[in-house]
Amino acid sequence: MQDIAWITSLILMAVVAVAFLWVAAGASKPDGDAGGIARSGFQWRARLFWIVIAAGGVISLVTLWDWPIAGHATAANRPDAVVRAVGHQWRWELDRDTVKVGELVEFQITASDVNHGFAIYKDKKHMVAQAQAMPGYVNKLQVRFIEPGEYEVLCLEYCGLAHHGMRAVIKVVEHVHEPYR
Ligand code: CUA
Repeated sequence: MQDIAWITSLILMAVVAVAFLWVAAGASKPDGDAGGIARSGFQWRARLFWIVIAAGGVISLVTLWDWPIAGHATAANRPDAVVRAVGHQWRWELDRDTVKVGELVEFQITASDVNHGFAIYKDKKHMVAQAQAMPGYVNKLQVRFIEPGEYEVLCLEYCGLAHHGMRAVIKVVEHVHEPYR
């Protein structure tokens, strides 16, 4: 999908470049009808404008249809488990840290002091989901963990000196032995 978007962008950029060159070439003719060239240039510019707007709309729709971050499309579903998460300078407070594979987990995220960014990572490079942690609001983020393992919660918004130290771990397990609800 990224490749298609990239190629489409290149084609559109080429179209725009050709149109500019064409208008520029026409405008530099010494004995040309300057008014006519300007008029047709403006007409083309108007058409191109709408073509680019329409293409941008279609490309956005196609590329964003399958939102790459899990949870957003299912935010209205009834969760199987709820995890309350509070961001503090500079730590995460989670009311539980173990959830089960496959269940729909709803993170209810807020902050006690300043804005933080609640981001769940599968490994250092792969973000599973994220939401803002803001004082006075509770943001709900629904995530269905597909793979077991340890997921790291990091802060995504600079919140002061030890921002980088805001780490927590969520364990995603196949079975939970102790009663945890
Ligand atoms: Cu909390 Cu950055």
